[in-house]
Amino acid sequence: MKYTELGLINTTEIFRDAIARNYAVPAFNFYNMETLQAILDAAHITHSPIILAVSESALKYMGADTLIAMIRGANISPNDKIALHLDHGGSFDACAHAIEIGFSSVMIDASKLPFDDNIELSRRVAEFAHQHNVSIEAELGILAGIEDENTQSKISSYTNPSDVEKFVNATGIDSLAIAIGTSHGAHKRKKDDEELRFDILADVAVRLPGFPLVLHGASNIPQKLITTINEFGGKISGARGIDENQLRRATKMNVCKINVDSDLRLGATAAIRKSLFEKPENFNPREYLSAARQTMTQICVDEIRNIMGSENMI
Ligand code: G3H
Ligand code: 13P
Ligand code: ZN
Repeated sequence: MKYTELGLINTTEIFRDAIARNYAVPAFNFYNMETLQAILDAAHITHSPIILAVSESALKYMGADTLIAMIRGANISPNDKIALHLDHGGSFDACAHAIEIGFSSVMIDASKLPFDDNIELSRRVAEFAHQHNVSIEAELGILAGIEDENTQSKISSYTNPSDVEKFVNATGIDSLAIAIGTSHGAHKRKKDDEELRFDILADVAVRLPGFPLVLHGASNIPQKLITTINEFGGKISGARGIDENQLRRATKMNVCKINVDSDLRLGATAAIRKSLFEKPENFNPREYLSAARQTMTQICVDEIRNIMGSENMI
């Protein structure tokens, strides 16, 4: 299936505009009907371009046929400016499979391999992706935190700015994920005032003028969601995200894709806990899943407006 048959676009035009007008496009992860609908509703409410991100484990969870059927059922138009992106593709085969079933963008995450091996694998995937007019993201530097259901990265290393030109030129990738202090999951910082490494970001942006950069692990972790979760029986302590001001600052420095998964997970969990607590007699999942969907839509809308700056950019 070619992604154009699903009304999707690749990220080339999306990023060109984001760079030109200094905003970031949100990449929200989805893994079921409710998360998909929440993200698409937010895109329509805000008239924002959007990247629908699917991890390998989320693809497995939904099943490729169900995932593509849901995308088809969403009646997406190229005018909506929506890309379907494989998040943290771990191998050539995973990226090729995503491209073959209808993804318009893939990430090959070879960031834990030695530099030359990362180049080689990213280059091979880029070549294959470009044969299908699909965009490709790769990563330099390692983020700490939970990256998928199976890997928990304990090591982390910042991106070395002196590597980026060689990496981009040798691989032919379309966007580069960099490590400047963000991390996956809900426990990102030890202190509230911990700063991202804007010096690294600035150095990379100077070396790659106009080139799209990506921030992973960039959830804001709204504290009101943590409070709600804990108020209604949850137990999450020490959760801290990336400060909104710092994310906004990054959008002005060639960061044109910001990845958010944990915020929606927290939103869904908070809404479901509250709904079940307030109506303990309810056993109709549609009731608490609607509450989750509504909360996730609101989180996407708020972040598009207050962080990404992508509202009305279609
Ligand atoms: O960055 C990774 C995402 O949060 C995906 O996580 O593999 O549990 O879907 P997942
Ligand atoms: P968060 O855990 O900060 O939401 O990061 C998500 C992400 O980077 C997906 O690739
Ligand atoms: Zn990520």
